[in-house]
Formats: sequence, structure tokens, C-alpha cells
Amino acid sequence: MLNIQLMNKIAKIGTDKFDTAKYTVGEDVRNADAILVRSAVLHDTVFPSSLKSIARAGAGVNNIPLDRCADDGIVVFNTPGANANGVKEIVIAALLLASRDIIGGVEWVKTLKGDEEAAKKVEKGKAQFAGCEIMGKTLGVIGLGAIGRLVANVACSLGMTVVGCDPYLSEAAAKMLSPDVKVVSSYDEIYSEADYITLHVPATPQTKGMINATTLSSMKDGVKLLNFSRADLVIESDMVKALENGKVAKYVVDFPTVGIIGASDKIIAIPHLGASTEESEDNCAVMAANQTIDYLENGNIVNSVNYPNFKMPRSTDKRVCVLAKNADVAEITKAVSGVAASGSATKGDYVYAVYDVTGDVDAEKIKAVNGVIRVIVL
Ligand code: MLT
Repeated sequence: MLNIQLMNKIAKIGTDKFDTAKYTVGEDVRNADAILVRSAVLHDTVFPSSLKSIARAGAGVNNIPLDRCADDGIVVFNTPGANANGVKEIVIAALLLASRDIIGGVEWVKTLKGDEEAAKKVEKGKAQFAGCEIMGKTLGVIGLGAIGRLVANVACSLGMTVVGCDPYLSEAAAKMLSPDVKVVSSYDEIYSEADYITLHVPATPQTKGMINATTLSSMKDGVKLLNFSRADLVIESDMVKALENGKVAKYVVDFPTVGIIGASDKIIAIPHLGASTEESEDNCAVMAANQTIDYLENGNIVNSVNYPNFKMPRSTDKRVCVLAKNADVAEITKAVSGVAASGSATKGDYVYAVYDVTGDVDAEKIKAVNGVIRVIVL
């Protein structure tokens, strides 16, 4: 039996993918072969030596120690695009919430409970909650991946002028963008042009704190910022100052922290609801489960963030999977006998080599090759 440990609630449609004849799945499962996780923070978790993979049911992987996992031969997957529509929809809601004081108005109406004069007071008092329309305004989209791209396209259809930037934009992704999206080559162009800016980049050492006093100062006065990516992208104290001095008119954030909650009336803090829809949770769970199964049963790697992606049809009934760092594939191959088919891929320093073999496997001999971290025989 293979053990699948759930570190968060994962939609049943996903966990049902694990055949109960082959897998034990649950929160209390020990000696896990694979982990499925949503937002639980795993940085301080000591993983069992049995652990072969971690699948993040979602896009962001900043809750997982990627380098430590890679060095221990643990493949980390995410599920890019699986929740993109859910996040896109909440970003559109956020654009509107940043433009019209719907939340303030709704709260005020509650204070009129039981008031016979309510209808009259509503008409008299509503002016304090008036806002502006988004049509004709400029939206800057930082990051044109699965989510940013959808947001950009919908914003165009809502009559916004859309400026997008993504240093990693592939040709295929660019083709999925509306021709109305103006793609620029620097974030600075977005900062200087946009009335609204929405962030759709992962939290990495490069993007951490990218919204700070300097970048905020280069934005238009009264800009509205939406952050449905990660709290770490924004230096919160700089954001609070920019809200206080009017540089930023609204900050809608899906990652409330102690530094943000209650810091300004101009903050709309949402409790990480971006991907919390039935559809997104189902899509992520199914993708995470399928990727885990394909890895545990066939050694195929799809959507890994710390090892190269690699897929090969099986040609014998025994497969040897080798995870290595700074290793020479030819040296690994020399240590494997009876090879019928093989393939390999690299990602940075990490190597993944797969051999379909006939006959016995001397795993110790393969492990002895310089740089080899782990050998899995399936
Ligand atoms: C993501 O990174 O895709 C979201 O944070 C997913 C989630 O809400 O679990």
C-alpha cells in the first residue's frame, strides 16, 4: 500500500482518484509516500524518508521548502491554471469593490435596521458611498500567466485599457491574450500608466517586496492596487504610508496579515478566498492527485517546480527512476543494466533519469554514482 497524507482538506473528487486497493489516504497517515497540501506551511516539517512527492493543490508554492525537498529527492508539484478562473472572477469583483464603496454602503444599511425612515435615509445618505466606473480606466496586469491572462482579457471586454507585463511570457501564452492588451517590457511602464494594478506573479526572492516605497512613488496618484498573489510581494509598512498620504486610494488584498488588518479604511482585506470555489478546489484536487499517481506509479513528472518535467511511456514492467544533483547522466546510465528504453531531463542543477529495464536492478550501484540522491524502482 502507498500512503498519501493530506495536510489540508482536499476535495473528495481528487482524493477519490486514489484506488483504495493501492492507497491509504488521510490526514493521520504516517510514513507518507506523497503529501497533498493546500496552504499549510511545511517549512519546518520533518519529512519521513518514505516521502517521494508533495503536490500543492494550487499555484503558489511558497509554503513548501522547495530546495530542501529537491536535495532530499522529493518532487514538488503544483497545479497551474486549475484555479485560474476562480481567481479571475474574484479579481474582477475586487476591481469593482475598489471602485464603488459597496462594502461601506452595505454595512451602513445594516445600521438602519428597524428604522421606519430607512428608505428616505438611504436616498439621502447614499452619496457618501458613490464611486467611479472601471470602463475607460487603465488596468496594469503584472504577470500574464494563467490568471493574469484571464484577468487581462476580461478587463478588455469590460472596456478597460489593459497594459500587461511578464518577463517570462511565452509565445504560446502571448497568443492567448486579447489583441487589445498592450504588452510592455517593463513594470515601470505599468506603474506610470495604470489607474489599477493587479499582481499575478509568484512569491520568489526576486518578487518579494517588489511593491515598495520606490515603486509606489512611481505610480499614478490615487492608484488602486489588487493583490491576489501573495502578501510578501508588498512591503506592508510602505503600503500603509502610501494609503495614508493618498498615493494609493485602495488596496484590496487576499492575504490579511497583522500589519494590514485595520491599518487603513482604504484596505479591503479578504480571507484568502481567491481559489475558494467548489470548481477551483475540485480542479486543483484532481490535478494534484493525478500528478501524484502518475509519479508514484510511472515515475512521470508533470508540473514540477523543483525537478524537470519528464514523461515517457512504459516499455517494460520495471522502471528505474533516478533523482540526482550535478550528476553526469552517462555515469548513471553506466550503472543501470538491461536498459530497454531511457530518457532524462534537467532543471538547473537537478537531473531526472528514467530507465525501463529487464532483469534485476542494483539500486546500491546506481546510488553510488556521484550526485545521485535517490533511486526509485517501480
Ligand atoms: C494558489 O496559490 O493557487 C491559491 O493560494 C490556492 C489556495 O487558495 O489554496
